[in-house]
Amino acid sequence: MKKILMTLFSFTALLFILVACDNNGDNGYDNGDENGYEENGDDNDTAEGNEGFVGVSMPSLALERWERDGTQMEANLIAAGFTVDLQFAQDDVATQINQIENMITAGVDILVVAPIDGETLTGVLESAHAQGIYVIAYDRLIMDSEYVSYYVTFDNFYVGVTQGNFLVDALGLGQGDGPFNIELFGGSPDDNNAFFFFEGAMSVLQEHIDSGELNVVSGQTDMMQIGILGWGTADAQVRMDNLLSAYYSDTELHAVLSPNDSLALGIVSSLENLGFGDTLPMPVVTGQDGDLANVQSILAGGQAMTVFKDTRVLAEAATRMVTEILNGETVTVNDTETYDNNVRVVPTFLAEVFTVTADNVYEILVESGFYTAEELGLD
Ligand code: BGC
Repeated sequence: MKKILMTLFSFTALLFILVACDNNGDNGYDNGDENGYEENGDDNDTAEGNEGFVGVSMPSLALERWERDGTQMEANLIAAGFTVDLQFAQDDVATQINQIENMITAGVDILVVAPIDGETLTGVLESAHAQGIYVIAYDRLIMDSEYVSYYVTFDNFYVGVTQGNFLVDALGLGQGDGPFNIELFGGSPDDNNAFFFFEGAMSVLQEHIDSGELNVVSGQTDMMQIGILGWGTADAQVRMDNLLSAYYSDTELHAVLSPNDSLALGIVSSLENLGFGDTLPMPVVTGQDGDLANVQSILAGGQAMTVFKDTRVLAEAATRMVTEILNGETVTVNDTETYDNNVRVVPTFLAEVFTVTADNVYEILVESGFYTAEELGLD
């Protein structure tokens, strides 16, 4: 069902549309402002002197990016004058629900939530709504609830397109060579983003599979076969081990579509254990996030690329959204068509992503201050 819904959106329509949303939307809230149109950014973005209590619920501290997202947002919100309760839920749904309930009881004005499982928060969002609390879905969409006020995320479909395009270039598809052998990995099927990443990548790769230039040797191309529940590194490693022993004892493997860095770590470990990157050439492995271990792997010739999501940018966009909502201002969004959570199309702000390879690590990650040269062993 989810997959079908994901295919219904029109990607082309969303790019570069800057639409400001009416805060008197159909999610039952009214914070006063109507029909405004506003360019990205306003005077109050990080101004001090705002008032309000913000609950920030992040999935876990296990994945590097969530820690960065949470702490960055907390710092931005405090600098903007808000009071913040930041919680990480150890990738446990019950813990996340409990933490959000406590935030509601403590009297937050607004919740910023990156759900562990997008389909489990309907009840707690009803409680939030009953208290007049706004809800921003952060990075991952909260499904099946009319009480998601806004969504702030990276351009998820484009993340997948970027990975697909990278594979096309790296393998030289379309130039008469090949066929090339590839295996596909999907993200966690309980994460709405995982479907966008996969659809985005397949929007580029499918024609090459159909033409026979790309061969998925295992034949596993369905999200339900290739998805790794919980985005676990160890589970990705086990699946890669199994694929290698079942299909590649005598067959070359040229590429692996990995939707993110936590899976890429497991995939590359599996490959390295079997001599890829040493006695055998390393297949082209994609990723997403720009986690430290993965960037180090890119520099060492393991993983080939990562789609960098600058959590500083997303945290800033979320802070702006909180400020705009609580001050009754027009909320800056740039997509009002794509993110249907099965109940409503949630007005969204999409932030940009960047491809990082060994060639531009310094420029994108060091010069922007995301990592130090020392952390990456570049000084
Ligand atoms: C995020 C990715 C992250 C993955 C695993 C997704 O929802 O968008 O950036 O790698 O979850 O935590």
